[in-house]
Amino acid sequence: MRLLFGVGRCAVVRVSEPVRQACAHEFSFAPSKSDADAHDVIASRKAELGGRGAGPLMQRDRELRLLDQLLDDVRRRGRPHLVTLLGEAGVGKSRILHEFRRAIRERGGARCLVGCNRSFGPDSPYASLEGVVRSYAGITDADGPAELTNKLRVAVTGLVGTGPIASQLVKNLRDLLVQGAGLADTKPVFAAWRRLVQEIAAREPLVIILEDLNRVDDVLLKFVGDMAELAGMLPLLLVVTGRLELAERDSYWSGGRRNASTMSIDPLSRSATHTLLSDLLTRAEPTEAQRQNTPTGEKLAAVCANLVDQVGGNPLFAMEYVRLVHDGAMSTRALAGEPGAAAGPNVPVPQKVHNIIATRLDTLSPAEKAVLYDAAVLGDSFCRQTLAVLGDREATSIEECLDTLERHDLVRRSRFGVDLGHVEYTFTHSLVREVAYSRLPRALRADKHMLAAEWLCGMSGEPVGLMAHHYKEAVEHASYAGLDTRDIARRACDGLIQAGHQALARGAQRTALHGYRAALDFCPPDHPQLPELLRWSRDDLTEANPPPRPKVTPSASLG
Ligand SMILES: Nc1ncnc2c1ncn2[C@@H]1O[C@H](COP(=O)(O)OP(=O)(O)OP(=O)(O)O)[C@@H](O)[C@H]1O
Ligand SMILES: [Mg+2]
Repeated sequence: MRLLFGVGRCAVVRVSEPVRQACAHEFSFAPSKSDADAHDVIASRKAELGGRGAGPLMQRDRELRLLDQLLDDVRRRGRPHLVTLLGEAGVGKSRILHEFRRAIRERGGARCLVGCNRSFGPDSPYASLEGVVRSYAGITDADGPAELTNKLRVAVTGLVGTGPIASQLVKNLRDLLVQGAGLADTKPVFAAWRRLVQEIAAREPLVIILEDLNRVDDVLLKFVGDMAELAGMLPLLLVVTGRLELAERDSYWSGGRRNASTMSIDPLSRSATHTLLSDLLTRAEPTEAQRQNTPTGEKLAAVCANLVDQVGGNPLFAMEYVRLVHDGAMSTRALAGEPGAAAGPNVPVPQKVHNIIATRLDTLSPAEKAVLYDAAVLGDSFCRQTLAVLGDREATSIEECLDTLERHDLVRRSRFGVDLGHVEYTFTHSLVREVAYSRLPRALRADKHMLAAEWLCGMSGEPVGLMAHHYKEAVEHASYAGLDTRDIARRACDGLIQAGHQALARGAQRTALHGYRAALDFCPPDHPQLPELLRWSRDDLTEANPPPRPKVTPSASLG
């Protein structure tokens, strides 16, 4: 049996009738326009208010309370309100709405309709509006054209009776469901959708959930933004979700609207993340192999403590890391810090997590990306001045880029220095740094590490450990990139010797020793100071007998 008919064009998956039937619980389909026997996948059913069955909900009381208050408000005042839940991928926007909808169902007193935008192709740009109509009218994928029209008619006449308005509504809503991207004019269709929503809300308080607005086109974005203003005095709560980039869109209603608000969905706290990891790790697993990889007791606590930083409060990331543990891709012995296990937990970034972060980075401009990548070379914390050293950029342009990166929640200000204008930044998540760093070509990494090391070398009271780190990385990446590392290694050696001298001059003997020993690692056999370096690297170095100051070769750019 031919299961998959083939990918007709980019982003359209086409399947046969038997496959459609077999997967009807997983995906929504539409009859293919070009192949009479085939169906196109248009959306994932699982994506509808995702996060079901994923274990207990952690720490979202505040958000759920706020949503309850907004619903009470629209009910009491009979006035619409639009609230946007904004947050990074996987932070739990849909999960909050899943819980909110469940609570409404249990308590009663309002109707809730949901529309998602997880469409699989360009044929359904208004999938979220469609979803609302389908769920109100009870239309399923199994319904043929006649049944679809019939169900629409029943739903519409139940609201507005029979007559010309009913016919117009049925016609336009049918166009919305059937024509998708082929709609010649969205105005009458959107107006029909708004009228349907108004009619429902006139009968009972209504909550409309529209998911993933960052995916929709500007026409729909504007329509949704206007909805709360133009719907009239009705008990209507419009709840929409979007990833952080939604706030950057021109057509997004960023502020100044009377009936609108934004709820920022922050990552979970460390303790909630710990509890979530522990719950996910110990949940009954189906296979024996997975059970064997599941830590227990003290080991479980140690594994969770090690993963908390990686997860950074993102529940989706927590699930992906736990998957790696269960699949045996991560040594739980190393994660638990057991003696005899490989030194330090070497935690890989799960592919899905990597992809999510990479997608976020792709929304940045080339200049913003370049600043972020340079920051990744510098380490966990960095400042504007250091960034200027790594790239040939104006201070104001760096500041503008940092502001944007901060708005995108990729970096944050961590400390203000003594000088006005000296601000230290950190990455909001260590994974952002890892992914940004992984995108820099090796040769460029070597070049940037060398620049950073030489800049540190010229500073008074320079941190020798950090400098040694940059030199080591420069040599490693240059050799990976197939570059000649002799010159880099020699300069690394000279810089580390100089750092050793400076440390010794201020009485930091252990730091000096560390510098000399690091220098030995890079010292070429023909280095004129090799014999002295060997002597300085011994434990008996004293301030009474300081080593002579070596000449440091001036820096040059890497070839
Ligand atoms: N507070 C929480 N406690 C426990 N699990 C959670 C919590 N929030 C989310 N999850 C789980 O994490 C996963 C991702 O959550 P969800 O789908 O809600 O993220 P999202 O913010 O909607 O992401 P996207 O932007 O991709 O739509 C789901 O499986 C969900 O059940
Ligand atoms: Mg979601």
